[in-house]
Amino acid sequence: MKKINVALVGLGFGGCFAEIYKEHPNVGKIKVFDTNRNITETFVNRFGLEGCSSLEEILNDDTIDAVHLVTPIPLHEEQTVRVLEAGKHCACTVPMATSLEGIRRITEAKRRSGKNYMMMETTLYTYQFFYVKQMLESGELGRIQFLRGSHYQDMSNWPSYWMGLPPMWYGTHAIAPMVALSGSRIKRVVGFGSGSMDKELTKQYNNPFPVESALFEFENGLKGEATRSLFETARMYQEGMFVYGSKQSFEWGFRDNDLPYITTLGSTGNNRGAYTKYEIREMPNFHSVLPPEIQRFTVGSDSFDPLNPQESLKKGAGGGHHGSHPHLVHEFVMSIIENRKPWIDEELGGNITGAGICAHESALRNGESIIVPVF
Ligand SMILES: NC(=O)c1ccc[n+]([C@@H]2O[C@H](COP(=O)([O-])OP(=O)(O)OC[C@H]3O[C@@H](n4cnc5c(N)ncnc54)[C@H](O)[C@@H]3O)[C@@H](O)[C@H]2O)c1
Repeated sequence: MKKINVALVGLGFGGCFAEIYKEHPNVGKIKVFDTNRNITETFVNRFGLEGCSSLEEILNDDTIDAVHLVTPIPLHEEQTVRVLEAGKHCACTVPMATSLEGIRRITEAKRRSGKNYMMMETTLYTYQFFYVKQMLESGELGRIQFLRGSHYQDMSNWPSYWMGLPPMWYGTHAIAPMVALSGSRIKRVVGFGSGSMDKELTKQYNNPFPVESALFEFENGLKGEATRSLFETARMYQEGMFVYGSKQSFEWGFRDNDLPYITTLGSTGNNRGAYTKYEIREMPNFHSVLPPEIQRFTVGSDSFDPLNPQESLKKGAGGGHHGSHPHLVHEFVMSIIENRKPWIDEELGGNITGAGICAHESALRNGESIIVPVF
């Protein structure tokens, strides 16, 4: 079996991926690196992986084929370019970059290197996303009429680079499912910022807004709306996806782990208005598309029962980010093994991230309409 050697860099959230790479049948050697030496040591000891003392060491190691970056946001652009320029495939957590120029640099580095770039967007590999895609492809949903996304999360006391971050710079979780389901790309954005927050929070990024909301126009004519809050806004955590179809609609539950509402539109003959009915629906886990060795990570390895994966989904509540982690690893690894582009490549990742950057720019200009560049 063909195998690749991988380095995982940044082991905070990134630590979730170490064991998945270790168990993936197409991964050979795994190196890990975190600037915090104790964290690197913990992963070396816990999983028997090889530790490194710098990114440089990884980039100079000819035996490493691919690097997965899960480092702080301000480092993504520079580190991604360095990985690609070192002739290695690169996966990076969201957001791709924090400026349009950053996205352009990554796109150019990717094209020059001929290697793969993948933006590791969790919301595109959740079991909820797989389910809606299935509803769309089976015709159950009908035509998409409108899309909506949300990401409400309070970031107080997170690492300093988060403080005052423009909400739409990290709009990817709210924007990505809309772009992916639209079958198109976002071409134009109108954004607004709202509310006020502690003056200290406004300084780092010159951003006055705790909440941003934007309307997106897709190239195929569809429209969508996304709202993102980061500070001083009382709302339960939610990375929500809302898809309004001509036959059925999918609306995320109130909290992030709540089941969705499925609304069905039915004919009442010649009577005024169609009838609507709704149900709260359980969804299947989509673990079976993965190699057996990593299926359990869709629910968190302790909760997985291979004989009853559906029941274990309820116990594990999706293993963090709704089962997406092993799907992300699998897509990145298999795109390299199969010598093809990954699904969330520099173009899709650039549109998702770029639309958010333009939404913030529009908000700063009080709703001026902004064209999202093609990368
Ligand atoms: N759902 C998602 O997709 C999702 C969820 C959480 C975090 N993230 C992203 O993951 C990234 C990391 O998040 P986090 O919460 O772990 O952040 P964090 O800042 O808490 O931790 C980052 C880790 O990287 C290490 N680090 C810092 N600089 C480094 C460097 N130059 N080289 C190697 N390691 C370095 C730190 O010591 C730390 O252990 C962020 O960019 C965030 O946007 C994405």
